Amino acid sequence: MGTSDLWIKDILTVYGSTLLTILIIVYIINWRWTKFVKNIYRLHLMGFETECAELAVNYKERLFAPLNEAFSNDEILKVEGAIRLLEIGVKTGENFHFYPDKTHLICVDWNYKLEDYLTKSDRAWQFSHIKFEKLIIGDGTSLKEIPSNYVDAVVTVRSLCSCSSVRETLGEIRRVLAPGGKYFFLEHIPEQEETFTHWFQWFLTKSKIYPSLFGDCRLDSSPLNDINTAGFSKISCESIILKGYVTHPYHLYLTRNHIMGIASK
Ligand SMILES: C[S@@+](CC[C@H](N)C(=O)[O-])C[C@H]1O[C@@H](n2cnc3c(N)ncnc32)[C@H](O)[C@@H]1O
Repeated sequence: MGTSDLWIKDILTVYGSTLLTILIIVYIINWRWTKFVKNIYRLHLMGFETECAELAVNYKERLFAPLNEAFSNDEILKVEGAIRLLEIGVKTGENFHFYPDKTHLICVDWNYKLEDYLTKSDRAWQFSHIKFEKLIIGDGTSLKEIPSNYVDAVVTVRSLCSCSSVRETLGEIRRVLAPGGKYFFLEHIPEQEETFTHWFQWFLTKSKIYPSLFGDCRLDSSPLNDINTAGFSKISCESIILKGYVTHPYHLYLTRNHIMGIASK
């Protein structure tokens, strides 16, 4: 046995049980932490994000109104009077009641319980006007299961901020849209530069505090530039600020500024 082997043996004899205890504690903390974070995010989605969806109802009515006059690029759907729509980050289907009857819906979300919720839960009856064509459990950044030029409309609401690459997601959105198809977006953006809130949003994002607790949400995400350079033929966009009562006002304070608009392929 060499001197370094003896040295390691001595350390393990003296500190072995302490090291083992530390390893077990770290493992337990890590396990509890993951569960804790999952719970926080679930409560955030069901609480604040649901309240926020209610604050946005009037804006969404205006945003989604053109869907009622849309025609499908798919000849069969056109005869049926239906359209094919893809939503990325559907949460609990807050936007579905804005979609026209008979909409063929493709959902992308990384919540693996989504299918059960949308099709088997006691809220499933609320979605009966829609035909679920596909539920994809995955990251909106990669839509490889969806053919090019396939959907008539794409929707993202407060979801781009969590996609690992906004640019790639927009590239995929443009690819899957049929010619003349429309991308509807309502996304939160940071406050104006040189304000304390802007700095705070930057700090909470760069320190990973906010993304690690709230489903990778980046408060400094500002997708308008990427939308403008993604190759859409026409873009209309306006700025809106969500206002109203929510149970946790600091979340609204951090994500109240939005861009809302439509980009056409
Ligand atoms: C803030 S909620 C969206 C709110 C919802 N769209 C609405 O209008 O109220 C974010 C949703 O997007 C999903 N999500 C977040 N990042 C995602 C990603 N990269 N790919 C797919 N889904 C994602 C989450 O699971 C969650 O359901």
